[in-house]
Amino acid sequence: MEYAYLARIYDHLMEDVNYENWINYIEHFLGKKEGDMKNQILELACGTGNISIPMGRKGYEITAIDRSVDMLSQAQQKANDLDLNIQFYQQDMLNLQLQERYNTILCLCDGVNYILDLEDLRIFFLKVYSLLREGGVFIFDISTYYKLKEILGGNTYGEDLGNITYLWENYFSPEEEKVEMDLTFFQENKHGLYEKHKEFHIQKAYRHQELCSLLKKIGFSTVDMYHELSFNPPKEDSHRIFFVCRKQ
Ligand SMILES: C[S@@+](CC[C@H](N)C(=O)[O-])C[C@H]1O[C@@H](n2cnc3c(N)ncnc32)[C@H](O)[C@@H]1O
Repeated sequence: MEYAYLARIYDHLMEDVNYENWINYIEHFLGKKEGDMKNQILELACGTGNISIPMGRKGYEITAIDRSVDMLSQAQQKANDLDLNIQFYQQDMLNLQLQERYNTILCLCDGVNYILDLEDLRIFFLKVYSLLREGGVFIFDISTYYKLKEILGGNTYGEDLGNITYLWENYFSPEEEKVEMDLTFFQENKHGLYEKHKEFHIQKAYRHQELCSLLKKIGFSTVDMYHELSFNPPKEDSHRIFFVCRKQ
C-alpha cells in the first residue's frame, strides 16, 4: 500500500520543499484581495496537510482529501495541535463524493502523476470541472516526463535517519511511460532488531501538451502552464510544471 509506512517520514523527506513559496505562488492566481478569505478551497491528494494547514491558518476554508489514512492521520494531528478546523476526508480522488462546489481546487506535488490511465485522468478532470464554481480555478502540478525518465529513472536514493533507514529505487519503463518506485524501510525496534517494510509506487509520465489539450476539450476556458513556481513557460528540461485552469 502506498503512503502507509512512508507517512512516518514524509515530512522529513519534504524538508527541503519550501511550502511557503508554493502557497505564495498559488495565492498569486487566486486574485485574493486583502481581508477576503471567503475562498472555499478543495485540496485533493493533500497528504500530511503541508499546503492545507498553512492555508487554513491564513483563514481559508479548506476541505482536504487523500486516500491514505496514514497521511491523513498525520495531517489531522497537525491541524489538532494548531486547533485548526479543516475538513479532512479519506476518499479516492477518482471517486469523489462531495456535495459542495468550490472556488479553488488544488492538487499539488505529483497527485496527478498517481493517476495512471489517460481515461481515468479525463474522468477526473471532468469531475474537478463540475466541482468548480463559475469563475473558479483548478491549480495542479506534475513531475514532468523529463524528470521521471531522466532524473528519477534508473536512480537509487537512500538515507540513514537514525532509527529509520530507507532505500528508494526507481525504474522507468519507456513502453508504459511510467516510473516504478520501490521503497524499502528498515526501522529499529525496541529489541535493537530491524524491521523491514516495503512500499511500491507508480507514477505516470505525462506530456504537458497532451494534458493541456485534454483540459481545454473538457471546457476550461484558459489553461496556463508554468515552469517550476515561475511565470515562465515550461522548458524541455523542466522538472515540474504548474497548470492554472480557469472555469469561466
Ligand atoms: C507526493 S504526496 C503529495 C502530498 C501533498 N499534496 C503535498 O504537497 O505534500 C501524493 C499524495 O497523493 C495521494 N494520492 C495518490 N493517489 C490518490 C488518489 N487516487 N486519491 C487520493 N489521494 C491520492 C497519496 O496518498 C499522497 O498523500
